[in-house]
Amino acid sequence: SSTAVPEEFYINEERRLLMNMLMVGAGGLTVLGLGVPYIAFFVPPGSVGETGGVAAKDALGKDILFTEYVATKPTGDRSLVQGLKGDATYLIVNDDKTLESYGLNAVCTHLGCVVPWSAANNKFICPCHASQYAPDGTVLRGPAPLPLALAHCDVDEASDKILFSPWTETDFRTGEKGWWN
Ligand code: FES
Repeated sequence: SSTAVPEEFYINEERRLLMNMLMVGAGGLTVLGLGVPYIAFFVPPGSVGETGGVAAKDALGKDILFTEYVATKPTGDRSLVQGLKGDATYLIVNDDKTLESYGLNAVCTHLGCVVPWSAANNKFICPCHASQYAPDGTVLRGPAPLPLALAHCDVDEASDKILFSPWTETDFRTGEKGWWN
């Protein structure tokens, strides 16, 4: 008989945290409506943009439009959207209200909890074992061994959609190949 914490614990914890965060984001919705975004969030994304990227989606599974998005967010904002393969991914709003050219995968590189952004501390702080990451996903404090994974983030001018595509190049934070490749 093993006393190890079952893997399900982490998965459930991650989902619970993700749902909590989505609930904050979906503040105005009724309780009845909340079932839909959770399901939509875990359905793999289907729509592929004309430039080959995958459209960023909100908690309702709708494609996010850049102009509306940045109008509702403060500069420096890091909010979760649905990214590549449905991964919870942070969009980053720059000081000039453009979007950063990369998104950050929210999955902690320690044991996979979803890592919340703390604007007050200007860090990502993992609730599971207290790893901390800088605003660009660099590890500030373990046990996380690796930076948050990157995805390219571009705006398709014609459709105003925000498109993610795989980051296969050098990780600019480490100068090495991305660990997720
Ligand atoms: Fe994030 Fe352990 S899962 S610190």
